[in-house]
Amino acid sequence: MAVPRCSLFCLLVIFYVSSIYGYEPTWESLDSRPIPEWYDEAKLGIFIHWGVFSVPSFASEWFWWDWKGQSTPAVVEFMAKNYPPDFTYADFAKQFTAEFFNAVEWAQMFQSSGAKYIVFVSKHHEGFTNWPSAHSFNWNSMQVGPHRDIVGELMNATRSNTDLKFGLYHSLFEWFNPLYLQDKKANFTTQNFVKFKTMPELYELVNNYEPEIVWSDGAHGPVDYWQSREFLAWLYTNSTVKDTVVTNDRWATGTLCHHGGFYTCSDRYNPGFLQKHKWENAMTIDRKSWGFRRTARLSDYLTMEEILQTFVETVSCGGNMLMNVGPPHHGHITPVYEERLRNMGKWLKVNGEGIYKSKPWTYQNDTLTKGVWYTKNNSSGSTTVYAFVFNWPGELLSLGLPLVSEVSKINLVGDSTFLDYKPRSTKGVDITIPLYSVNELPCQWLWAFKITAVEN
Ligand SMILES: *[C@@H]1O[C@H](CO)[C@@H](O)[C@H](O)[C@H]1NC(C)=O
Ligand SMILES: *[C@@H]1O[C@H](CO)[C@@H](O)[C@H](O)[C@H]1NC(C)=O
Ligand SMILES: *[C@@H]1O[C@H](CO)[C@@H](O)[C@H](O)[C@H]1NC(C)=O
Ligand SMILES: *[C@@H]1O[C@H](CO)[C@@H](O)[C@H](O)[C@H]1NC(C)=O
Ligand SMILES: *[C@@H]1O[C@H](CO)[C@@H](O)[C@H](O)[C@H]1NC(C)=O
Ligand SMILES: *[C@@H]1O[C@H](CO)[C@@H](O)[C@H](O)[C@H]1NC(C)=O
Repeated sequence: MAVPRCSLFCLLVIFYVSSIYGYEPTWESLDSRPIPEWYDEAKLGIFIHWGVFSVPSFASEWFWWDWKGQSTPAVVEFMAKNYPPDFTYADFAKQFTAEFFNAVEWAQMFQSSGAKYIVFVSKHHEGFTNWPSAHSFNWNSMQVGPHRDIVGELMNATRSNTDLKFGLYHSLFEWFNPLYLQDKKANFTTQNFVKFKTMPELYELVNNYEPEIVWSDGAHGPVDYWQSREFLAWLYTNSTVKDTVVTNDRWATGTLCHHGGFYTCSDRYNPGFLQKHKWENAMTIDRKSWGFRRTARLSDYLTMEEILQTFVETVSCGGNMLMNVGPPHHGHITPVYEERLRNMGKWLKVNGEGIYKSKPWTYQNDTLTKGVWYTKNNSSGSTTVYAFVFNWPGELLSLGLPLVSEVSKINLVGDSTFLDYKPRSTKGVDITIPLYSVNELPCQWLWAFKITAVEN
């Protein structure tokens, strides 16, 4: 269907009307809702993939599909070699024991990363719900495996021990749910899966746990089939989180990067230039998987340099980063993940002033020196620009873009010493870098220079 484009004025009118009379289940109405400000200010969230797939923890969280759906040889062989022939995927659920899962420890560890929100996988494509859903008989964390309300414990721990916002991931489709497969076979002309499974549990999830992010996924099917616009109209109008909730864009085939709240577009989306619409880079520390992998090698985990470079590029271009950790089936987060989280927090403690609540500047990356990305903080009335440099600059840092004047001041973030600088002929600046010994540097991995009174 061709939708006529709405002008800014028209959007404002729709938003005004919607905020009084409620949202309509149309994209015109739903897309007119401004994304609550807290989300743009937050910049960093932690994504957590945990489920029955964390038991085999082999290949990835797509294990069941790899095994029975597309018969990936390595996975088929792994099962043949290590399990009896009658072993089913459902049998793994008993071993999802969660004996070391301590929701308070998790919440505090996520907080220590400097993140401002978390997004926990409440149900992945396998269909197992990490809460006692009334719509997932015998395939939920209360009846099988942990025998605990994982979502509830994490919600409580997050809300009573941290100031992190609590968000939930939810997969609309399920690989092997017979109701979904029947609907799909009928070319989505029947809706039994939507009516009796996925939508009732999604409403249940929001009513019981009041997530401030609803991160939808697995949107394989047309929008009329999923009834996701009806859900969003209710979420934005009548739910208890209507004023603060943020959503993403994975609501049906074809909505990614086009409709909903912030855009995720594709996994690990990192376009490298300024985006018109608020977006999120959902990425994972293990470059090969979102779920825990027992066979991961050290080189499979992103280094701090890689994580921070991705983060800075993302924030420069107006995005948030949602960084994923995959805990093992027993619930104790492994030290490699813990180290990345705590290091992120150490770095943000020093450099957060150029990150949180920042806005994209006129330019995103420098033209003269490679690996320099910018953010802006205009809270003081004049523009302050932060130049994040990927490589330590040696004696001189030449930037091609910031237009500075005599009143500008430049310092390395985390060190109050003002540095000598010379404006370049048209724009840009040459900054003299003094000799710092390694332990005088305020942080490792990637550094920020703060430039005040920038005129462009
Ligand atoms: C969460 O906290 C509430 C209030 O203290 C309590 O009633 C509920 O049982 C807790 N839920 C879980 C799953 O621990
Ligand atoms: C399935 O539905 C779509 C959209 O309504 C239609 O274009 C397509 O021809 C249908 N396919 C079959 C096999 O009926
Ligand atoms: C919101 O609730 C009101 C009152 O119950 C109802 O009339 C309206 O249809 C609801 N709107 C949505 C989008 O759920
Ligand atoms: C902006 O700069 C001021 C002064 O350096 C600092 O206190 C503040 O945290 C920065 N960030 C925001 C969003 O104001
Ligand atoms: C700026 O970023 C873009 C997108 O990543 C890249 O193509 C370009 O080479 C960068 N410019 C410099 C000078 O590094
Ligand atoms: C400064 O920041 C405020 C709040 O984020 C924004 O509304 C305003 O447009 C910004 N001003 C400039 C000149 O960018």
